Amino acid sequence: MSTKIKKVAIIGAGFTGRQIAARTALYDYKVNLYDMSKEVLEDVKVFLKKFFRPKNKREKYQNINITHDFSEALMDVDLIIECVPEDVELKKRVFAQIDELAPAHAIIGTNSSSYPVSKIEDAVTRKDKVLNIHFYPPIPLRPMVDIMKGTETSEGTFETGKNWIKSIECTPLVVKKEIMGFVFNRIWRAIKCEVLHMWANGNADVETIDTAWKIFTGMNMGPFELMDGVGLDVAYNVEMSYYKESGDPRDKPPEKFKEKVEKGELGLKSGQGFYKWK
Ligand SMILES: NC(=O)c1ccc[n+]([C@@H]2O[C@H](COP(=O)([O-])OP(=O)(O)OC[C@H]3O[C@@H](n4cnc5c(N)ncnc54)[C@H](O)[C@@H]3O)[C@@H](O)[C@H]2O)c1
Repeated sequence: MSTKIKKVAIIGAGFTGRQIAARTALYDYKVNLYDMSKEVLEDVKVFLKKFFRPKNKREKYQNINITHDFSEALMDVDLIIECVPEDVELKKRVFAQIDELAPAHAIIGTNSSSYPVSKIEDAVTRKDKVLNIHFYPPIPLRPMVDIMKGTETSEGTFETGKNWIKSIECTPLVVKKEIMGFVFNRIWRAIKCEVLHMWANGNADVETIDTAWKIFTGMNMGPFELMDGVGLDVAYNVEMSYYKESGDPRDKPPEKFKEKVEKGELGLKSGQGFYKWK
């Protein structure tokens, strides 16, 4: 049986959570947007005011309720999308907290970039109502969303998820058989792994690699520019999760990359990554 989604909770209002909240509100869903950090929630208000500034979008801002109260965030919702950092233990904890407080019929999705929901689902009792629902921000430029089942996800949950994705004018990328990284991220990750090692080994510099990529693919950004946009801490954690899964030393992110992250060179959000950003 498929559920009618009316109200959505987004847990984690960082880079992706706020974009998913904005997109969802734009398509007339009620949205509760929660983060554990009050500072992040203040920052979100600035982001959302800008997002909803155009006249034709302005009234949609009313669809969003920004809250620092976890139980309020989960009240009467039909779908929850977890958007906390890429740490499987943290995601399990958050899933368990959601499971305890959310309405029994609600579906819980994770926006994880790499973990199959089957690695998180043991934290909840409603294993038939969990999904990977993975966005590719910036959402307006890349309106596609991976959708993947856990080991016990029902057909009804899957259909509801797919229909909801379509309803916010995104294309569902259906993963038929579980794979870490889903559809596009799996392709993208092979490229990242290769270029990071080329850079760290001194085979070619980032500008050369990005230029080659842009000329060949016709895209306007190269892999290093894209990683700077995503955040190098996020990119590093994702690479580490692939490495932990495979145990293959060729998958281990280079030390030079780790050092960059430890220095706080996180890309666009910190002003310095592989490139300098204003
Ligand atoms: N950055 C991307 O381009 C991208 C794309 C697709 C998916 N993702 C995935 O989305 C998830 C979030 O990534 P992000 O880039 O938005 O990270 P982010 O660091 O920008 O945001 C994470 C937010 O979660 C909050 N948070 C931490 N612990 C929390 C908790 N226990 N409860 C509630 N909030 C908590 C933090 O305060 C922060 O605001 C990750 O799983 C990531 O892999 C990221």
